Amino acid sequence: MKKYRDIAGDGGSNIVGQVEAQQARLRSRLAGVRRIVAVVSGKGGVGKSSVTANLAAAFALAGWSVGVLDADLNGPSIAKMLGLRGRSLAVGADGVDPPRSALGVKAMSMDLLLPGDATPLTWAATTQAESHTWRGTMEANALREFLADTAWGALDLLILDLPPGTDRLVTVAGLVPALDGTVLVTIPSEVSHLIVKKSITVARQTGAPVLGLVENMAGYACPDCGAINPLFSGPGGAALAAEFGIPFLGAVPFDPRMAAAADRGEAFVAAGIDSPAARALLAVADALRARLAPR
Ligand SMILES: Nc1ncnc2c1ncn2[C@@H]1O[C@H](COP(=O)(O)OP(=O)(O)OP(=O)(O)O)[C@@H](O)[C@H]1O
Ligand SMILES: [Mg+2]
Repeated sequence: MKKYRDIAGDGGSNIVGQVEAQQARLRSRLAGVRRIVAVVSGKGGVGKSSVTANLAAAFALAGWSVGVLDADLNGPSIAKMLGLRGRSLAVGADGVDPPRSALGVKAMSMDLLLPGDATPLTWAATTQAESHTWRGTMEANALREFLADTAWGALDLLILDLPPGTDRLVTVAGLVPALDGTVLVTIPSEVSHLIVKKSITVARQTGAPVLGLVENMAGYACPDCGAINPLFSGPGGAALAAEFGIPFLGAVPFDPRMAAAADRGEAFVAAGIDSPAARALLAVADALRARLAPR
């Protein structure tokens, strides 16, 4: 059996050259993108995608041109939340045209490429059992292709919606020419804080500014009575932000109408419902805008 050291180069496939060419394409593709912000938490299910979709909508309502890259290849939800499921992708002379939501938010997601609801993403490997060995590399390559092959055009802001997992940010941050900042999402539970703390460390390690922490599901906003009742017994997000010396962008209560709007593919902030959750999301967008460097 041959060992790696017996093989000269990469067998003629020029992988390094291919990656360099793709990196160059990616840089020129993103030249018209003014700011790139990643939404992360480490913890699953805390509302990263909901916050992403609503921030994108809030910025679009404020007149910004916005794009969202769904960096969650295995559990993509952005297309659904932006009402883009089932849209076919048009390939123009300049690459793949990202579909636009009702508010004009451009999005690219693995969900737009996979046929049918129940088709999971699988990687080409001799056996699926063996594919996990290459998963990290293949995911990074797929995301690089997403970024490089999408005709994003001129954008004021590109938001990257990350999957759960504290390690993912490092991969994604390494793909873009420059990350303008990270937004962390938590819920008020010790279990979430435990993991989000690790993500704050990783976010700092990227060298990009930590733009702030959003506390989601901060109490239950009763749609009928207007009261906000406690939902979790854990520590508050403002205290966590203060402990780590990062900005606190705001607390968004749980409102069943927000989940229903996401299921309909409608941005809750634009659904015309006057609720504490919608107001909080708009305030988070304002706080974030204030922290983004003018470009
Ligand atoms: N403040 C909220 N009020 C009501 N429902 C919410 C709220 N935040 C999130 N949800 C709902 O909770 C579910 C999980 O949210 P979401 O998919 O945004 O989490 P996530 O952190 O992106 O999950 P994952 O880790 O799987 O990517 C969704 O059905 C969403 O609509
Ligand atoms: Mg998500």
